[in-house]
Amino acid sequence: MWYSSIKVGIVEIDMDHYNIDTMLQLYSSDRVPEFYLPQIINGLIKHFDTEEKIIAGMGREFPAEHKIEHSRLIQLLNDKLAIWKDGDLVGKDFVEQVREILLLHVTEYDVLLGNNNEQ
Ligand SMILES: [Fe+2]
Ligand SMILES: [Fe+2]
Repeated sequence: MWYSSIKVGIVEIDMDHYNIDTMLQLYSSDRVPEFYLPQIINGLIKHFDTEEKIIAGMGREFPAEHKIEHSRLIQLLNDKLAIWKDGDLVGKDFVEQVREILLLHVTEYDVLLGNNNEQ
């Protein structure tokens, strides 16, 4: 299961999740070179900001605890990226860990954005 396998119900967010999955899947299947990994991770980091802006654009307040979780994930991803750059983490293992982190995140946080849609 991937990030976009669980739908939030807000098209722009679901599309962004789908694009992230595509990049991660291409990497996992050796269809993009190893040196693209930092760009993929940076693209993912940008997504958190995009997600917050999409909600703001809908005139809604982004949940504070979700924002804190985004900050925590950005720190975690940057730390892992540094470990990968040092050669102490295999790229595919990194991507697999990212996949698990995102699946947990969409289930615990992102889906709630859609549930509040009516408010
Ligand atoms: Fe998201
Ligand atoms: Fe999120």
